[in-house]
Amino acid sequence: MNSDNRTELLRQIKDDVMNLKESPLCRDRVRNKVFPVIGEGSHYAKIMFVGEAPGKTEAETGRPFAGAAGKFLDHLLKSVGIERKDVYITNVVKDRPPMNRDPLPEEIALYAPFLDRQIEIIRPQVIALLGRHSMKYIMERFGLGSVILSISRIHGRVFEAASPYGKIKIIPLYHPAAALYNPDLRSVLEGDFQVVNKSVE
Ligand code: URA
Repeated sequence: MNSDNRTELLRQIKDDVMNLKESPLCRDRVRNKVFPVIGEGSHYAKIMFVGEAPGKTEAETGRPFAGAAGKFLDHLLKSVGIERKDVYITNVVKDRPPMNRDPLPEEIALYAPFLDRQIEIIRPQVIALLGRHSMKYIMERFGLGSVILSISRIHGRVFEAASPYGKIKIIPLYHPAAALYNPDLRSVLEGDFQVVNKSVE
């Protein structure tokens, strides 16, 4: 089972992102001593979490969800007995947008093919979407564009979709950072993580 070349294919993605020249987001990597954030976790993960883009701590460390939102993500994983090392965590956009602004459509278009490749290599059963940018991109990508509503209306719902490697489940969730500003969302996210956990076969 572990005899395929996922590690090599994922390393290739890292090299390709490192070699990107056309994104304004990657121009200041050297001067600002920041890194792109490719992704982290099991190359055989059944669950993939997809966030929006790296923030300050992530760009400084090269690791996804390494800051305050990541601490809450760690709590959410723990609350349902999932170990962080057993899932794969990544973002749509791989370099930090300045001042944490929303990613621009052209930035999503540039970086999303790397996410597509990560999904094809890791073949998760469940893709959990952290926030509205990953919800929009992934749901449209998997033919679910017509059922997209605001996160407040579809968070925690399980959508089935076809992928090149079989059926998958797609679950939109609030972004963990939203719960840092609105504590009422903590228990909503905790409930939705139970849904994510139960969706794995
Ligand atoms: N927010 C995201 O969307 N992704 C990260 O990696 C960190 C914060």
